[in-house]
Amino acid sequence: MQTVQRQSISDELRDRFESAKSVLVLTGAGVSAESGVPTFRGGGNSAVWKGMPFDLISSARMVERDLPRVWEWFDYRRTLLQPLEPNPAHKEIARWEKLFQQFTLVTQNIDGLHQKAGSGGVIELHGNIWRARCVSCHARYEILAGERRADECVGCGDRLRPDVVLFGEILPRGVFELAAESAQECELCIVIGTSGIVYPAASLPEIAKAAGAFLCEVNSELTAVSELCDEVLTGKAGEILPMLTT
Ligand code: APR
Repeated sequence: MQTVQRQSISDELRDRFESAKSVLVLTGAGVSAESGVPTFRGGGNSAVWKGMPFDLISSARMVERDLPRVWEWFDYRRTLLQPLEPNPAHKEIARWEKLFQQFTLVTQNIDGLHQKAGSGGVIELHGNIWRARCVSCHARYEILAGERRADECVGCGDRLRPDVVLFGEILPRGVFELAAESAQECELCIVIGTSGIVYPAASLPEIAKAAGAFLCEVNSELTAVSELCDEVLTGKAGEILPMLTT
């Protein structure tokens, strides 16, 4: 599919970028693809780990049944992520934060690359692989790269689990509501690198559109969101995002 050229970005989108006071950005695995993080449905992610299907090892059921094995999987994923750096898409989004009165970044990614690029106040719908959480008191602990992670909660002594939303689990309380509020209020909503099929995250562009926002998608292919959009920019996020302000 033809990658978008600078001149094919509409004047309307450029004007909206100039004039918008409140902007919502929703990102998915595609924004980290150019950093080397495999996407879920782009064929990059191996569907099986040590003979166990990806959506089983990453499930609430496995936390109940075999937490050490779940940790083995997430420890392995952190070692893959550790050397990876933010790409131009992450860096551009971090720069946008200072351009608008009200800027909200919502991500489905657990890789922490937005924060590594300098983004603050990121709404993490699916948690973060660099954090652990107590199964009882829900106290959260940062996991530092290259350091041994704790197994027990200092507060109540119970076990720690990855602070990530696993298959079969609902999102952390209040996180989606915060994102939905911003979607309701934004004038410009940009959806970057998500297949738009996992709910409730995929409902955010719908909420923004229904509330009158201009909806723009940046993705290397058409997705479930494309039809809803006022403008679809096809290509790599790391190449397209810097074009939006230059
Ligand atoms: N630039 C822009 N888009 C890209 C790029 C790129 N360089 N590379 C891939 N993409 C697009 C793909 O075309 C695809 O539409 O990114 C999207 C990635 O889709 P998924 O793999 O489905 O990832 P995502 O939408 O984030 O998945 C949502 O599903 O498995 C769960 O919890 C997991 O957060 C994840 C959620």
